[in-house]
Amino acid sequence: MPSIYLDNAATSFPKPPAVAEAMLRYMQENGASVNRGVYASAQEAGMTALLLREELCRLFRHGDPAHCVLTSGNTMGLNMVLRGWLRPGDHCLVSAMEHNAVMRPLQALAENGVTFDRVPCDGQGRMDPEDLRRLIRPNTRLVLIAHGSNVGGGVQDAAAVGKICRAYGIPFVLDAAQTAGHWEIDFDGWGLSALSAPGHKGLMGPSGIGVLLLAPEFARGLTPIVTGGTGSASDLEVQPMYMPDRFESGTPNLPGIYGLEAAAAFILRTGVPVLQAHETDMTGRLLDRLREIPYIRIAGPRERYSRVGVVSVDFQEADNAEAAFRLEKAYGILTRCGLHCAPAAHRTLGTFPQGTVRLSPGWFTTAAEVDAAAAAIAEIACGKGFRKNS
Ligand code: ALA
Repeated sequence: MPSIYLDNAATSFPKPPAVAEAMLRYMQENGASVNRGVYASAQEAGMTALLLREELCRLFRHGDPAHCVLTSGNTMGLNMVLRGWLRPGDHCLVSAMEHNAVMRPLQALAENGVTFDRVPCDGQGRMDPEDLRRLIRPNTRLVLIAHGSNVGGGVQDAAAVGKICRAYGIPFVLDAAQTAGHWEIDFDGWGLSALSAPGHKGLMGPSGIGVLLLAPEFARGLTPIVTGGTGSASDLEVQPMYMPDRFESGTPNLPGIYGLEAAAAFILRTGVPVLQAHETDMTGRLLDRLREIPYIRIAGPRERYSRVGVVSVDFQEADNAEAAFRLEKAYGILTRCGLHCAPAAHRTLGTFPQGTVRLSPGWFTTAAEVDAAAAAIAEIACGKGFRKNS
């Protein structure tokens, strides 16, 4: 039975073939580090890292590749911002849709005198930016918002949030875990102070690498949470101030850099609007089919626009975990069920503690796969002997 991969919100699969090819080429033919050798292969590796920074800046409309920091992933990028910026006595605003990559560091900071508020969201996970304005306090030093929800798929109005943050002089950080590579993002235009994204989701690169774009003024006030060798200013025992070295200690993930560079080049060549249109088509098709199925509830927005390709299904008369298990065992359909590391989002959408079965189409998902998934869900939702009350 061929499998149908519908878990692109966890990690995209498959990847464009050029990604694995570039990683293999690096491992077999290059193998050098960056900033730590002057021989040709090390220079080439350094140029690939620079090319990646330039491509990511083009993708997110950020003017300065030196402020494109390569991280080990989105969780690291978000920790770097939260722990490197907030101090005891500071107040932070987040939405009621955040995942644990934000909430866990924030809860840890709260034990050391940082306070935070969650801006409420409606039953579909959407936040009214005016509600955020009302929660701003004199000591609010950071606003951090998940752009797209990994549970319901709703997308927040980042441009409107940016406008409010600029008016109050509060740094605004966008968590683009579910929108990078899926949606057009305008770092400079939206007035972002930082943007964090993983390399392995919508950017279609490997895991273990991510990006943290910083506005120069924000970078100057941000303390690195990891320090160490950078291959630069080796005479100093203190962390250099240069960018991006200030935030990139240790030998970087070179296979990841090669893979993500190939992925970023693929995205730029294909165009985000083209990628987004396919995702919208597949998601719309899935939503249309699901709407006709009894005994399920869709958590999050039900329309195909203004959202990413994340569709959460709550089986009303079957256990969600068992439904996900049957989707794989009987139909070869791969989903993610449970709380998706985002209990706050599930609370907002009314699916806590039972969670949902999440289906997330990607660039390589076909209409036939979507139809097969919907047909399987219909059988499971209506299946005699399986529904709780049948
Ligand atoms: N945040 C990832 C997900 O939603 C891991 O599955």
